Amino acid sequence: MREFVTISESETRDLGRGWAEILEPADTLAIYGILGSGKTVLIQGIIQGLGVTDRVQSPSFVLIRTYAGRLPVRHVDLYRLQTDEVEGLYLEEIFDESGVMLVEWAERARYLPGLVSEVNIKYNKGEENQRRIKLEGPLAERLS
Ligand SMILES: Nc1ncnc2c1ncn2[C@@H]1O[C@H](COP(=O)(O)OP(=O)(O)OP(=O)(O)O)[C@@H](O)[C@H]1O
Ligand SMILES: [Mg+2]
Repeated sequence: MREFVTISESETRDLGRGWAEILEPADTLAIYGILGSGKTVLIQGIIQGLGVTDRVQSPSFVLIRTYAGRLPVRHVDLYRLQTDEVEGLYLEEIFDESGVMLVEWAERARYLPGLVSEVNIKYNKGEENQRRIKLEGPLAERLS
């Protein structure tokens, strides 16, 4: 387990850029945290770190966006779905073992394909710009 504290949006983005360097094919990041905690910001950093120059927007309406970087990226946002609906999404079928999958609102899925690492983002009222970002799983082990 690794824990990081960031004090700005750009620090969270930079953290994601660093993780991008050690991501490997078939990695999945399950990202947990309330609305506005910084899931999309972290993912923007990761996608940029994978060499993608397109603007990264939250895929809330389309659910899944794909990008071509050093590794193919699938950015999935399950916020609008109920767990039963996620089953119908067949994440296993859109999963590409040659790429990475980054999942916001991962708690909506009963099952995630790939080599799953978990990211938990927490923030306290009164510390508007501070985030505690906990990373567990294979990616955390690779970092240490
Ligand atoms: N340390 C920080 N790290 C990341 N974002 C921060 C930080 N401090 C403040 N912010 C702000 O918090 C917000 C995070 O928004 P973001 O869209 O990434 O959240 P989210 O978790 O993806 O939310 P949603 O569940 O709605 O998708 C941004 O407005 C950002 O500027
Ligand atoms: Mg988001």
